[in-house]
Amino acid sequence: MIDLSEAKPSRLVVDVVANNNIFEQLGNNTYTFTDLISELVDNSVAARVANELLDVLITIGLSNHRDRTFFVITDNASGISRDKLGDAISPAALQDQESLNEHGLGMKQAVASLGELDYLATKTPKDAEAILVTEFRFGKLEPKVLKVPWSHGTEIRVSHPSNLMRSPEQTSLCHEPAQACSKAIASPALACILATRS
Ligand SMILES: Nc1ncnc2c1ncn2[C@@H]1O[C@H](COP(=O)(O)OP(=O)(O)OP(=O)(O)O)[C@@H](O)[C@H]1O
Ligand SMILES: [Mg+2]
Repeated sequence: MIDLSEAKPSRLVVDVVANNNIFEQLGNNTYTFTDLISELVDNSVAARVANELLDVLITIGLSNHRDRTFFVITDNASGISRDKLGDAISPAALQDQESLNEHGLGMKQAVASLGELDYLATKTPKDAEAILVTEFRFGKLEPKVLKVPWSHGTEIRVSHPSNLMRSPEQTSLCHEPAQACSKAIASPALACILATRS
């Protein structure tokens, strides 16, 4: 073992720079399709509005064409405030051991595992319009804003599905009635999966 008491100061500087590859690598995990949906639904549950029924709608568009297959999750939770959005996107920036939001990774893992992010649109009751993010990366994003028909909530759309999203587990989930789907998701949220084919 080396003796650290012999170490001397140097003029060397090692620059450790955040690398955007992390957003893709977070998709390399052992989660099942159901685990990934649970990560997203957990976020909706954690952000639910007090005294309001939480609605979580999952829409899956199935197509033989990969670029036409999509996954969308929409909730009517509180939305992500504009000042918190950067930290919500940055891996592990937000951590709260006391809540369902623990490690600051789940949403990014779910998106990267399912496919490619098309958009994350989110709106708090205070915002006049939703803020629209079309990429997860470090640095200064320039999101658009958009009028949406909901007063608060978050919608995430992923397309170009990974093999996981086309797995038999996912397909059987889609063919179950909505009630069975929400049981499979094992969440207190009201969840419904609509399968559409094109
Ligand atoms: N549907 C949502 N509604 C409101 N806020 C959300 C939603 N999804 C994500 N967020 C915000 O984004 C943050 C990051 O979410 P993410 O799932 O990546 O990590 P986390 O929930 O903090 O931790 P974990 O790794 O346990 O999932 C959350 O802490 C929450 O503040
Ligand atoms: Mg989470």
